[in-house]
Amino acid sequence: MDKILEVKGLSQVYGPGCELCISSTGPEFETNICPHCGSIVALHDLSFDLYKGEILGIMGESGSGKSTAVKCLYFDQMPYSGSAIFFDEPEQQHLFKLNPAQRRSLRNRRFGMVYQNPNLGLNFDISAGGNIAERLLMSQVMNYSEIRNRAQTLLARTEVLIERMDELPKNFSGGMQQRVQIAKALATRPPLLFLDEVTTGLDLSVQAKILDLILEIQAELDTAMIVVTHDLGVIRLLAGRTLVMKYGRVIESGLTDQILEDPQHAYTQQLVASAL
Ligand SMILES: Nc1ncnc2c1ncn2[C@@H]1O[C@H](COP(=O)(O)OP(=O)(O)O)[C@@H](O)[C@H]1O
Ligand SMILES: [Mg+2]
Ligand SMILES: [Zn+2]
Repeated sequence: MDKILEVKGLSQVYGPGCELCISSTGPEFETNICPHCGSIVALHDLSFDLYKGEILGIMGESGSGKSTAVKCLYFDQMPYSGSAIFFDEPEQQHLFKLNPAQRRSLRNRRFGMVYQNPNLGLNFDISAGGNIAERLLMSQVMNYSEIRNRAQTLLARTEVLIERMDELPKNFSGGMQQRVQIAKALATRPPLLFLDEVTTGLDLSVQAKILDLILEIQAELDTAMIVVTHDLGVIRLLAGRTLVMKYGRVIESGLTDQILEDPQHAYTQQLVASAL
């Protein structure tokens, strides 16, 4: 299998940091706040490989550092330390060495992001179709009718009624907003998609349909995905491999089936037991 992303030692510290931050935070201390300087060690030493078309799950309770990890990879923020290589044949991009224009180009063309909060992923001042058009225009030269056709196809694919493409996203239900976000993220057929708690807060039946849609898209487009969630059910359904995080550290990783059947870490055991 071809590797698409290689992450090594990714770390994020919010605050001034000190030489004791790392050695005094983490699962064994049950905190991510350094008692010496008050900094938050949001993420420490995250390393993983992701392969083409694979869905990797990142699971953990609120505050464990999941969003921080994807925000760094999607350039919403720069990490404190660490490296990441995006293999975009024939090129290899060292993500944290790129200049702002190169970062923007990857975000607009090669990566997609779907946030828990649709406000972050959608422009609420323009229509659903306009949101997709905006992303298409950032990445390629297309005329008006090409863009409109492509937006229609994407919205149809994500089961948003075409009749509603000229409406503002604020008129849509939460589930529909997530579908528009997914359509927008997929507009450029990115080989790598980040999904951060995309079904959190939605009705269970709506959640199930969106999860199905994500699986269908992965099968159709062979998109590699990083799925961040606190929900074991989402992990079970989507992720072939999973990283379990606590206080900014990975405490367990492996094939999702194995983690669910035979969790090694006490925290994971407790998570799995409470979900039964
Ligand atoms: N911009 C920020 N400034 C300070 N602390 C932050 C910031 N963003 C996140 N944090 C803290 O970093 C830790 C990890 O947050 P986050 O990555 O959002 O966790 P998760 O997505 O797993 O809930 C939490 O303790 C959170 O409060
Ligand atoms: Mg989060
Ligand atoms: Zn410190």
